[in-house]
Amino acid sequence: MEKYNRAFIINGKDVAARLRAELKKEVVLLREKYSITPGLAVVLIGENPASKVYVRNKARGCEEVGITSIQHTLPEGASQSELLALIARLNGAKDVHGILVQLPLPKQIDPETVIEAIAPEKDVDGFHPYNMGRLMAGIPVLQPCTPYGVMKLLEAIDFKVDGKDAVIIGRSNIVGKPMAMMLLKKNATVTVCHSKTAYLPDKVRAADIVVAAIGREKFVKGDWIKEGAVVIDVGINRAKDGGLAGDVDFEEASLRAAYITPVPGGVGPMTITMLLANTVQAAKSQLIPLA
Ligand code: GUN
Repeated sequence: MEKYNRAFIINGKDVAARLRAELKKEVVLLREKYSITPGLAVVLIGENPASKVYVRNKARGCEEVGITSIQHTLPEGASQSELLALIARLNGAKDVHGILVQLPLPKQIDPETVIEAIAPEKDVDGFHPYNMGRLMAGIPVLQPCTPYGVMKLLEAIDFKVDGKDAVIIGRSNIVGKPMAMMLLKKNATVTVCHSKTAYLPDKVRAADIVVAAIGREKFVKGDWIKEGAVVIDVGINRAKDGGLAGDVDFEEASLRAAYITPVPGGVGPMTITMLLANTVQAAKSQLIPLA
């Protein structure tokens, strides 16, 4: 077996910290110049333990950069119309610039209806069909946080996407599909793979950029990785040993990749950071020009 060097490990915590420091300055400027403080409303329905952790981390992130976060909690049994009434109120609230409804939702509530009820200019998740359509048309406004964070990681390592072959594993509306649009906008040639894809290892072997968003521990094997590729692991899986594990076999893949993200500490810290960035951007876009 040939001996390979180890990949450079992309430190998502460092990149996130740098971006948060910039956001903090922007928040100060917004307050000084326009007397506004960006506000994020986070809506949690029910008791999903993972959702509670995410919501708590979002509130902490807001505090760190000076965004006001307001949490609204509805009981597990809340009706769709109750939730829609809350969203309508938040859509009209002047001090709320971003609205995030934590997913997944209890089964009596239809997520598409809820997402479409959020005012597009406050849709800091970038999930509203208006924002998805803008992204697909190549004129994005608010972009989904996780793939947006991945683009920032590629920027941080100064990786030139132009002309590269990208393989995305996973086709969700939250990660896979918007990721494809963002890479395409940067002139990558993009292949979106999923559970029915034939000859997946061979497709991954052809990729200069691999984005794994499957949700299965160590699904992507080291020998699928082309030498010198960039490997971005979006997976957050509960490992057998109780820790967190990504979708990529990190140990094996890091012997072949040029760059790789760890789990935890790679893409994870970027997701909330881009939510904060979207909230600041939303607040700016809602500034009423002074006459
Ligand atoms: N649940 C898991 N990821 C997300 C996300 O990015 N946004 C929302 N709203 N809910 C989620």
